[in-house]
Amino acid sequence: MAPNWTPQSWQDKPIRQVPTYPDQAALDAVLARVRTHPPLVFAGEARNLTAALGQVAEGKAFLLQGGDCAESFAEFHPDNIRDMFRVMLQMAVVLTFAAGVPVVKVGRIAGQFAKPRSDDNETINGVTLPSYRGDNINGSEFTAAARIPDPQRMLQATAQSAATLNLLRAFAQGGYADLHNVHRWMLGFISDSPAGEQYQGLAQRISETLEFMAACGITSESVPQLRGTDFYTSHEALLLAYEQAMTRVDSTSGDWYDTSAHMLWIGDRTRQLDGAHVEFMRGIKNPIGLKCGPSLGEDELLRLIATLNPQNIPGRLTLIARFGADKIAEKLPPLVRAVKREGAKVVWSSDPMHGNTIKLQSGYKTRPVDRILEEVRSFFSVHRAEGTHAGGVHFEMTGQDVTECLGGAQAIKELDLAERYQTACDPRLNASQALELAFLIAQGIRDERMKDAGLAASA
Ligand code: PEP
Ligand code: CO
Repeated sequence: MAPNWTPQSWQDKPIRQVPTYPDQAALDAVLARVRTHPPLVFAGEARNLTAALGQVAEGKAFLLQGGDCAESFAEFHPDNIRDMFRVMLQMAVVLTFAAGVPVVKVGRIAGQFAKPRSDDNETINGVTLPSYRGDNINGSEFTAAARIPDPQRMLQATAQSAATLNLLRAFAQGGYADLHNVHRWMLGFISDSPAGEQYQGLAQRISETLEFMAACGITSESVPQLRGTDFYTSHEALLLAYEQAMTRVDSTSGDWYDTSAHMLWIGDRTRQLDGAHVEFMRGIKNPIGLKCGPSLGEDELLRLIATLNPQNIPGRLTLIARFGADKIAEKLPPLVRAVKREGAKVVWSSDPMHGNTIKLQSGYKTRPVDRILEEVRSFFSVHRAEGTHAGGVHFEMTGQDVTECLGGAQAIKELDLAERYQTACDPRLNASQALELAFLIAQGIRDERMKDAGLAASA
Protein backbone atom coordinates (compact mmCIF):
# COMPACT_ATOMS: atom_id res chain seq x y z
CA MET A 1 0.00 0.00 0.00
CA ALA A 2 1.22 3.58 -0.65
CA PRO A 3 3.10 4.83 2.44
CA ASN A 4 1.34 7.40 4.69
CA TRP A 5 -1.76 7.29 2.55
CA THR A 6 -5.40 7.03 3.56
CA PRO A 7 -8.50 7.68 1.44
CA GLN A 8 -8.76 11.05 3.23
CA SER A 9 -5.08 12.08 3.35
CA TRP A 10 -5.76 14.45 0.39
CA GLN A 11 -7.76 16.62 2.79
CA ASP A 12 -4.52 17.96 4.36
CA LYS A 13 -3.16 19.17 1.03
CA PRO A 14 -3.78 22.35 -0.94
CA ILE A 15 -6.65 21.79 -3.33
CA ARG A 16 -7.85 23.46 -6.54
CA GLN A 17 -11.07 23.35 -8.52
CA VAL A 18 -13.40 22.13 -5.79
CA PRO A 19 -16.79 23.61 -4.97
CA THR A 20 -17.62 25.16 -1.61
CA TYR A 21 -20.88 23.67 -0.44
CA PRO A 22 -23.02 26.11 1.54
CA ASP A 23 -24.52 23.44 3.80
CA GLN A 24 -21.92 21.13 5.38
CA ALA A 25 -24.52 18.93 7.09
CA ALA A 26 -26.31 18.29 3.79
CA LEU A 27 -22.98 17.41 2.15
CA ASP A 28 -22.07 14.99 4.96
CA ALA A 29 -25.46 13.29 4.71
CA VAL A 30 -25.02 12.73 0.96
CA LEU A 31 -21.46 11.45 1.34
CA ALA A 32 -22.64 8.98 3.98
CA ARG A 33 -25.10 7.60 1.42
CA VAL A 34 -22.46 7.43 -1.31
CA ARG A 35 -20.22 5.44 1.06
CA THR A 36 -22.80 2.68 1.24
CA HIS A 37 -23.59 2.71 -2.50
CA PRO A 38 -22.61 -0.57 -4.17
CA PRO A 39 -19.35 -0.26 -6.11
CA LEU A 40 -19.84 0.54 -9.79
CA VAL A 41 -16.86 -1.56 -10.80
CA PHE A 42 -15.09 -4.55 -9.32
CA ALA A 43 -11.39 -4.35 -8.40
CA GLY A 44 -10.62 -7.38 -10.57
CA GLU A 45 -11.87 -5.48 -13.62
CA ALA A 46 -9.59 -2.55 -12.80
CA ARG A 47 -6.70 -5.01 -12.54
CA ASN A 48 -7.61 -6.43 -15.95
CA LEU A 49 -7.51 -2.94 -17.40
CA THR A 50 -4.09 -2.32 -15.85
CA ALA A 51 -2.89 -5.52 -17.50
CA ALA A 52 -4.39 -4.51 -20.86
CA LEU A 53 -2.78 -1.08 -20.60
CA GLY A 54 0.46 -2.82 -19.65
CA GLN A 55 0.31 -4.37 -23.11
CA VAL A 56 -0.14 -0.87 -24.56
CA ALA A 57 2.92 0.34 -22.63
CA GLU A 58 4.89 -2.55 -24.15
CA GLY A 59 3.79 -1.57 -27.67
CA LYS A 60 1.57 -4.65 -28.05
CA ALA A 61 -1.82 -2.92 -27.94
CA PHE A 62 -3.43 0.46 -28.63
CA LEU A 63 -5.64 2.57 -26.35
CA LEU A 64 -8.83 4.23 -27.56
CA GLN A 65 -10.32 6.48 -24.88
CA GLY A 66 -13.25 8.71 -25.67
CA GLY A 67 -16.64 10.09 -24.82
CA ASP A 68 -18.38 13.20 -23.67
CA CYS A 69 -16.54 16.21 -22.32
CA ALA A 70 -19.20 16.22 -19.63
CA GLU A 71 -22.14 13.87 -19.25
CA SER A 72 -25.32 15.66 -18.35
CA PHE A 73 -28.61 14.84 -16.70
CA ALA A 74 -30.46 16.35 -19.69
CA GLU A 75 -28.76 14.07 -22.25
CA PHE A 76 -29.30 10.90 -20.21
CA HIS A 77 -31.03 8.58 -22.68
CA PRO A 78 -30.47 4.97 -23.77
CA ASP A 79 -30.11 6.04 -27.41
CA ASN A 80 -27.26 8.38 -26.52
CA ILE A 81 -25.43 5.64 -24.64
CA ARG A 82 -26.00 3.20 -27.51
CA ASP A 83 -24.81 5.65 -30.15
CA MET A 84 -21.65 6.50 -28.23
CA PHE A 85 -20.89 2.82 -27.74
CA ARG A 86 -21.42 2.17 -31.45
CA VAL A 87 -19.00 4.88 -32.55
CA MET A 88 -16.34 3.71 -30.11
CA LEU A 89 -16.66 0.16 -31.39
CA GLN A 90 -16.51 1.21 -35.02
CA MET A 91 -13.42 3.29 -34.36
CA ALA A 92 -11.88 0.38 -32.49
CA VAL A 93 -12.41 -2.05 -35.38
CA VAL A 94 -10.79 0.34 -37.84
CA LEU A 95 -7.84 0.91 -35.51
CA THR A 96 -7.46 -2.79 -34.67
CA PHE A 97 -7.26 -3.68 -38.32
CA ALA A 98 -4.77 -0.93 -39.04
CA ALA A 99 -2.56 -1.41 -36.02
CA GLY A 100 -2.70 -5.20 -36.10
CA VAL A 101 -2.87 -5.20 -32.29
CA PRO A 102 -5.76 -5.30 -29.80
CA VAL A 103 -7.45 -1.98 -29.05
CA VAL A 104 -8.27 -1.31 -25.41
CA LYS A 105 -11.57 0.59 -25.25
CA VAL A 106 -12.14 3.04 -22.42
CA GLY A 107 -15.16 5.37 -22.40
CA ARG A 108 -15.35 8.81 -20.84
CA ILE A 109 -18.71 7.71 -19.56
CA ALA A 110 -20.70 6.47 -16.56
CA GLY A 111 -19.25 9.08 -14.20
CA GLN A 112 -17.71 11.90 -16.28
CA PHE A 113 -19.59 14.76 -14.66
CA ALA A 114 -17.24 17.11 -12.77
CA LYS A 115 -15.46 19.82 -14.77
CA PRO A 116 -12.41 21.93 -13.95
CA ARG A 117 -12.80 25.52 -15.13
CA SER A 118 -10.24 28.12 -16.18
CA ASP A 119 -12.30 30.85 -14.51
CA ASP A 120 -14.17 30.64 -11.23
CA ASN A 121 -16.79 33.03 -12.57
CA GLU A 122 -18.65 33.64 -15.81
CA THR A 123 -19.92 37.04 -16.95
CA ILE A 124 -22.77 37.46 -19.41
CA ASN A 125 -24.18 40.92 -20.29
CA GLY A 126 -22.56 42.45 -17.21
CA VAL A 127 -23.90 39.77 -14.82
CA THR A 128 -21.26 37.67 -13.04
CA LEU A 129 -22.06 34.24 -11.56
CA PRO A 130 -19.96 31.28 -10.38
CA SER A 131 -18.96 29.01 -13.28
CA TYR A 132 -20.81 25.81 -14.10
CA ARG A 133 -18.74 22.87 -12.77
CA GLY A 134 -20.58 19.84 -14.07
CA ASP A 135 -23.98 18.32 -13.38
CA ASN A 136 -22.84 16.50 -10.24
CA ILE A 137 -21.95 19.90 -8.70
CA ASN A 138 -24.20 22.69 -9.99
CA GLY A 139 -26.54 23.57 -12.86
CA SER A 140 -25.54 25.00 -16.23
CA GLU A 141 -28.48 27.47 -16.38
CA PHE A 142 -27.23 31.01 -15.99
CA THR A 143 -29.05 31.81 -12.73
CA ALA A 144 -27.66 32.42 -9.25
CA ALA A 145 -29.74 29.56 -7.82
CA ALA A 146 -28.55 26.98 -10.38
CA ARG A 147 -24.90 27.81 -9.81
CA ILE A 148 -24.98 27.04 -6.06
CA PRO A 149 -23.26 23.67 -5.48
CA ASP A 150 -25.89 21.12 -4.45
CA PRO A 151 -24.67 17.82 -2.94
CA GLN A 152 -27.91 16.02 -3.90
CA ARG A 153 -26.64 16.14 -7.48
CA MET A 154 -24.00 13.55 -6.54
CA LEU A 155 -26.74 11.01 -5.87
CA GLN A 156 -28.37 11.62 -9.23
CA ALA A 157 -24.99 11.34 -10.95
CA THR A 158 -24.28 8.06 -9.17
CA ALA A 159 -27.65 6.63 -10.19
CA GLN A 160 -27.12 7.75 -13.80
CA SER A 161 -23.61 6.24 -13.81
CA ALA A 162 -24.91 2.90 -12.50
CA ALA A 163 -27.69 2.73 -15.09
CA THR A 164 -25.32 3.75 -17.90
CA LEU A 165 -22.75 1.16 -16.92
CA ASN A 166 -25.44 -1.49 -16.68
CA LEU A 167 -26.46 -0.85 -20.29
CA LEU A 168 -22.84 -0.75 -21.48
CA ARG A 169 -22.16 -4.11 -19.88
CA ALA A 170 -25.23 -5.54 -21.60
CA PHE A 171 -24.18 -4.15 -24.97
CA ALA A 172 -20.60 -5.37 -24.56
CA GLN A 173 -21.48 -8.96 -23.70
CA GLY A 174 -25.05 -9.49 -24.88
CA GLY A 175 -24.42 -9.85 -28.63
CA TYR A 176 -24.83 -6.23 -29.74
CA ALA A 177 -21.06 -5.76 -30.00
CA ASP A 178 -20.61 -8.71 -32.38
CA LEU A 179 -17.81 -7.87 -34.80
CA HIS A 180 -20.06 -8.56 -37.78
CA ASN A 181 -22.60 -6.00 -36.52
CA VAL A 182 -19.90 -3.42 -36.04
CA HIS A 183 -18.62 -4.04 -39.54
CA ARG A 184 -22.13 -3.60 -40.96
CA TRP A 185 -22.54 -0.25 -39.17
CA MET A 186 -19.24 0.82 -40.64
CA LEU A 187 -20.26 -0.03 -44.17
CA GLY A 188 -23.41 2.03 -43.57
CA PHE A 189 -21.29 4.96 -42.44
CA ILE A 190 -19.08 4.72 -45.52
CA SER A 191 -21.98 4.68 -47.94
CA ASP A 192 -23.46 7.79 -46.23
CA SER A 193 -20.23 9.75 -45.86
CA PRO A 194 -19.32 12.40 -48.45
CA ALA A 195 -15.71 11.17 -48.16
CA GLY A 196 -16.76 7.51 -48.12
CA GLU A 197 -14.78 6.34 -51.14
CA GLN A 198 -11.59 7.34 -49.29
CA TYR A 199 -12.27 4.59 -46.72
CA GLN A 200 -13.46 1.92 -49.15
CA GLY A 201 -10.08 0.25 -49.43
CA LEU A 202 -9.67 -0.41 -45.74
CA ALA A 203 -13.29 -1.47 -45.32
CA GLN A 204 -12.97 -3.85 -48.24
CA ARG A 205 -9.92 -5.48 -46.66
CA ILE A 206 -11.82 -5.93 -43.40
CA SER A 207 -14.74 -7.52 -45.28
CA GLU A 208 -12.38 -9.91 -47.04
CA THR A 209 -10.69 -10.79 -43.77
CA LEU A 210 -14.03 -11.61 -42.15
CA GLU A 211 -15.00 -13.78 -45.12
CA PHE A 212 -11.67 -15.56 -44.99
CA MET A 213 -12.05 -16.15 -41.24
CA ALA A 214 -15.58 -17.50 -41.75
CA ALA A 215 -14.28 -19.85 -44.44
CA CYS A 216 -11.77 -21.14 -41.90
CA GLY A 217 -14.55 -21.73 -39.36
CA ILE A 218 -13.77 -18.65 -37.25
CA THR A 219 -17.24 -17.23 -36.62
CA SER A 220 -19.13 -15.59 -33.75
CA GLU A 221 -20.56 -19.01 -32.92
CA SER A 222 -17.16 -20.66 -32.67
CA VAL A 223 -15.12 -17.81 -31.15
CA PRO A 224 -16.66 -15.90 -28.20
CA GLN A 225 -14.19 -13.00 -28.68
CA LEU A 226 -16.03 -12.08 -31.88
CA ARG A 227 -19.38 -11.96 -30.07
CA GLY A 228 -18.48 -9.62 -27.26
CA THR A 229 -15.91 -7.12 -26.19
CA ASP A 230 -14.34 -5.52 -23.12
CA PHE A 231 -15.42 -1.97 -22.53
CA TYR A 232 -14.07 0.04 -19.60
CA THR A 233 -15.17 3.33 -17.99
CA SER A 234 -13.19 6.38 -16.92
CA HIS A 235 -13.57 9.96 -15.74
CA GLU A 236 -11.56 12.80 -14.28
CA ALA A 237 -11.13 12.31 -10.52
CA LEU A 238 -11.92 15.91 -9.71
CA LEU A 239 -14.59 15.86 -7.02
CA LEU A 240 -12.44 14.17 -4.39
CA ALA A 241 -15.07 13.99 -1.65
CA TYR A 242 -17.14 11.82 -3.99
CA GLU A 243 -14.17 9.73 -5.13
CA GLN A 244 -13.16 9.14 -1.53
CA ALA A 245 -16.67 7.96 -0.69
CA MET A 246 -16.51 5.44 -3.56
CA THR A 247 -13.06 4.15 -2.52
CA ARG A 248 -13.13 0.74 -0.86
CA VAL A 249 -10.68 -1.96 0.24
CA ASP A 250 -10.64 -4.90 -2.14
CA SER A 251 -11.04 -8.01 -0.04
CA THR A 252 -8.96 -10.19 -2.38
CA SER A 253 -5.83 -8.02 -2.44
CA GLY A 254 -6.26 -5.72 0.56
CA ASP A 255 -5.65 -2.75 -1.78
CA TRP A 256 -7.73 0.40 -2.09
CA TYR A 257 -9.71 0.87 -5.29
CA ASP A 258 -11.81 3.81 -6.36
CA THR A 259 -14.88 1.85 -7.44
CA SER A 260 -16.52 4.77 -9.29
CA ALA A 261 -14.77 3.78 -12.57
CA HIS A 262 -12.14 1.43 -13.92
CA MET A 263 -9.73 4.23 -14.75
CA LEU A 264 -9.45 7.75 -13.30
CA TRP A 265 -7.33 10.62 -14.48
CA ILE A 266 -5.79 13.80 -13.07
CA GLY A 267 -6.62 16.94 -15.05
CA ASP A 268 -4.09 19.43 -16.35
CA ARG A 269 -5.25 22.03 -13.81
CA THR A 270 -4.95 19.81 -10.74
CA ARG A 271 -1.67 17.95 -11.23
CA GLN A 272 0.37 19.84 -8.60
CA LEU A 273 2.91 17.48 -7.01
CA ASP A 274 2.05 18.58 -3.48
CA GLY A 275 -1.67 18.99 -4.19
CA ALA A 276 -4.72 17.08 -3.06
CA HIS A 277 -5.49 15.36 -6.37
CA VAL A 278 -2.05 13.80 -6.77
CA GLU A 279 -2.18 12.74 -3.13
CA PHE A 280 -5.50 10.96 -3.58
CA MET A 281 -4.53 9.27 -6.83
CA ARG A 282 -1.21 7.90 -5.63
CA GLY A 283 -3.02 5.64 -3.16
CA ILE A 284 -5.71 4.05 -5.30
CA LYS A 285 -4.74 0.94 -7.25
CA ASN A 286 -6.81 1.64 -10.38
CA PRO A 287 -5.00 2.42 -13.61
CA ILE A 288 -4.68 6.21 -13.73
CA GLY A 289 -4.09 8.92 -16.29
CA LEU A 290 -2.22 12.19 -16.03
CA LYS A 291 -2.97 15.04 -18.42
CA CYS A 292 0.25 16.65 -19.64
CA GLY A 293 -0.16 20.22 -20.91
CA PRO A 294 2.29 22.87 -22.15
CA SER A 295 3.32 24.09 -18.68
CA LEU A 296 4.60 20.68 -17.55
CA GLY A 297 8.40 20.49 -17.22
CA GLU A 298 10.59 17.39 -17.48
CA ASP A 299 11.66 17.29 -13.81
CA GLU A 300 8.14 17.88 -12.66
CA LEU A 301 6.90 15.03 -14.84
CA LEU A 302 9.57 12.65 -13.56
CA ARG A 303 8.67 13.49 -9.96
CA LEU A 304 5.00 12.98 -10.69
CA ILE A 305 5.78 9.58 -12.22
CA ALA A 306 7.86 8.61 -9.18
CA THR A 307 4.97 9.59 -6.89
CA LEU A 308 2.18 8.03 -8.93
CA ASN A 309 3.91 4.84 -10.08
CA PRO A 310 6.80 4.18 -7.68
CA GLN A 311 6.87 0.47 -8.56
CA ASN A 312 7.03 1.23 -12.27
CA ILE A 313 4.11 -1.08 -13.08
CA PRO A 314 3.35 -1.03 -16.82
CA GLY A 315 -0.28 0.00 -17.39
CA ARG A 316 -0.61 1.81 -14.07
CA LEU A 317 0.08 5.23 -15.59
CA THR A 318 -1.09 6.74 -18.87
CA LEU A 319 0.39 10.10 -19.85
CA ILE A 320 -2.20 11.98 -21.88
CA ALA A 321 -0.45 14.62 -23.99
CA ARG A 322 -2.65 17.65 -24.77
CA PHE A 323 -0.42 20.42 -26.04
CA GLY A 324 -2.13 21.84 -29.10
CA ALA A 325 -1.16 21.35 -32.74
CA ASP A 326 1.11 24.41 -32.58
CA LYS A 327 3.02 23.35 -29.45
CA ILE A 328 3.35 19.57 -29.52
CA ALA A 329 6.46 19.42 -31.74
CA GLU A 330 8.31 21.60 -29.25
CA LYS A 331 6.88 20.34 -25.94
CA LEU A 332 6.46 16.59 -26.32
CA PRO A 333 9.96 15.40 -27.41
CA PRO A 334 11.81 16.51 -24.23
CA LEU A 335 9.19 14.79 -22.06
CA VAL A 336 9.31 11.58 -24.09
CA ARG A 337 13.11 11.56 -23.88
CA ALA A 338 13.12 12.18 -20.13
CA VAL A 339 10.65 9.35 -19.54
CA LYS A 340 12.64 7.00 -21.76
CA ARG A 341 15.95 7.94 -20.07
CA GLU A 342 14.41 7.22 -16.69
CA GLY A 343 13.17 3.82 -17.85
CA ALA A 344 9.65 4.70 -16.72
CA LYS A 345 7.03 2.34 -18.13
CA VAL A 346 4.09 4.45 -19.23
CA VAL A 347 1.42 4.57 -21.89
CA TRP A 348 1.68 7.68 -24.07
CA SER A 349 -1.69 8.79 -25.38
CA SER A 350 -2.70 11.84 -27.42
CA ASP A 351 -5.61 14.08 -26.43
CA PRO A 352 -5.78 16.33 -29.50
CA MET A 353 -8.87 18.13 -28.19
CA HIS A 354 -7.94 20.29 -25.22
CA GLY A 355 -5.01 22.18 -26.75
CA ASN A 356 -6.98 23.06 -29.86
CA THR A 357 -10.02 24.84 -28.52
CA ILE A 358 -10.73 28.26 -30.01
CA LYS A 359 -13.36 30.84 -29.18
CA LEU A 360 -15.01 32.49 -32.17
CA GLN A 361 -16.29 36.08 -32.39
CA SER A 362 -19.78 34.60 -32.35
CA GLY A 363 -19.06 33.33 -28.84
CA TYR A 364 -18.93 29.61 -29.77
CA LYS A 365 -16.10 27.49 -28.43
CA THR A 366 -15.04 25.12 -31.18
CA ARG A 367 -12.22 22.92 -32.48
CA PRO A 368 -11.16 22.55 -36.10
CA VAL A 369 -10.95 18.88 -37.14
CA ASP A 370 -7.83 19.72 -39.18
CA ARG A 371 -5.99 20.91 -36.09
CA ILE A 372 -7.08 17.82 -34.16
CA LEU A 373 -5.72 15.58 -36.88
CA GLU A 374 -2.53 17.63 -37.11
CA GLU A 375 -1.85 17.15 -33.40
CA VAL A 376 -2.38 13.38 -33.65
CA ARG A 377 -0.06 13.21 -36.67
CA SER A 378 2.65 15.14 -34.81
CA PHE A 379 2.18 12.83 -31.82
CA PHE A 380 2.87 9.81 -34.03
CA SER A 381 5.87 11.40 -35.70
CA VAL A 382 7.44 12.43 -32.39
CA HIS A 383 7.19 8.86 -31.13
CA ARG A 384 8.53 7.52 -34.37
CA ALA A 385 11.53 9.84 -34.14
CA GLU A 386 12.17 8.93 -30.49
CA GLY A 387 11.70 5.20 -31.00
CA THR A 388 8.84 5.05 -28.51
CA HIS A 389 5.30 3.72 -28.85
CA ALA A 390 2.47 6.11 -29.75
CA GLY A 391 0.12 4.20 -27.48
CA GLY A 392 -3.30 5.70 -27.91
CA VAL A 393 -5.74 8.52 -28.51
CA HIS A 394 -8.19 10.35 -26.26
CA PHE A 395 -11.18 12.08 -27.86
CA GLU A 396 -14.17 14.12 -26.82
CA MET A 397 -16.97 12.90 -29.02
CA THR A 398 -20.59 11.88 -29.14
CA GLY A 399 -22.64 9.41 -31.13
CA GLN A 400 -25.04 12.23 -32.03
CA ASP A 401 -24.99 14.32 -35.19
CA VAL A 402 -24.00 17.56 -33.44
CA THR A 403 -22.34 20.60 -35.03
CA GLU A 404 -19.70 21.58 -32.49
CA CYS A 405 -16.32 21.04 -34.20
CA LEU A 406 -15.42 22.70 -37.51
CA GLY A 407 -14.62 20.78 -40.71
CA GLY A 408 -14.58 17.09 -41.47
CA ALA A 409 -16.18 15.50 -44.52
CA GLN A 410 -19.46 17.27 -43.74
CA ALA A 411 -17.44 20.53 -43.92
CA ILE A 412 -19.07 22.11 -40.87
CA LYS A 413 -18.52 25.87 -41.02
CA GLU A 414 -18.78 28.67 -38.47
CA LEU A 415 -22.32 29.46 -39.55
CA ASP A 416 -23.40 25.83 -39.11
CA LEU A 417 -22.36 25.60 -35.46
CA ALA A 418 -25.62 27.11 -34.20
CA GLU A 419 -27.66 24.28 -35.78
CA ARG A 420 -26.96 21.54 -33.26
CA TYR A 421 -24.51 22.87 -30.67
CA GLN A 422 -25.54 20.79 -27.66
CA THR A 423 -22.50 20.17 -25.47
CA ALA A 424 -22.69 20.78 -21.74
CA CYS A 425 -19.05 21.86 -21.84
CA ASP A 426 -16.41 21.52 -24.59
CA PRO A 427 -17.16 21.00 -28.31
CA ARG A 428 -17.24 17.30 -29.28
CA LEU A 429 -16.56 15.48 -32.52
CA ASN A 430 -19.80 14.15 -33.96
CA ALA A 431 -20.14 10.50 -34.92
CA SER A 432 -18.98 10.94 -38.49
CA GLN A 433 -16.06 13.24 -37.60
CA ALA A 434 -14.90 10.75 -34.96
CA LEU A 435 -15.02 7.82 -37.37
CA GLU A 436 -13.30 9.79 -40.12
CA LEU A 437 -10.49 10.54 -37.70
CA ALA A 438 -10.21 6.85 -36.86
CA PHE A 439 -9.83 6.06 -40.57
CA LEU A 440 -7.23 8.76 -41.06
CA ILE A 441 -5.28 7.69 -37.97
CA ALA A 442 -5.55 4.07 -39.10
CA GLN A 443 -4.01 4.99 -42.43
CA GLY A 444 -1.16 6.71 -40.54
CA ILE A 445 -0.57 3.64 -38.37
CA ARG A 446 -0.59 1.36 -41.41
CA ASP A 447 1.88 3.53 -43.30
CA GLU A 448 4.12 3.43 -40.27
CA ARG A 449 3.88 -0.36 -40.04
CA MET A 450 4.62 -0.71 -43.73
CA LYS A 451 7.66 1.53 -43.42
CA ASP A 452 8.88 -0.36 -40.36
CA ALA A 453 8.39 -3.64 -42.19
CA GLY A 454 10.30 -2.25 -45.19
CA LEU A 455 13.16 -1.10 -43.01
CA ALA A 456 13.24 -4.40 -41.16
CA ALA A 457 13.34 -6.30 -44.45
CA SER A 458 16.25 -4.31 -45.82
CA ALA A 459 18.20 -4.33 -42.53
C1 PEP B 1 -11.04 17.18 -20.00
O1 PEP B 1 -10.47 16.12 -20.32
O2 PEP B 1 -12.26 17.36 -20.14
C2 PEP B 1 -10.22 18.29 -19.48
C3 PEP B 1 -10.73 19.28 -18.79
O3 PEP B 1 -8.93 18.17 -19.85
P1 PEP B 1 -7.62 18.94 -19.34
O4 PEP B 1 -7.50 18.66 -17.86
O5 PEP B 1 -6.54 18.28 -20.14
O6 PEP B 1 -7.79 20.39 -19.66
CO1 CO C 1 -13.18 18.75 -22.15
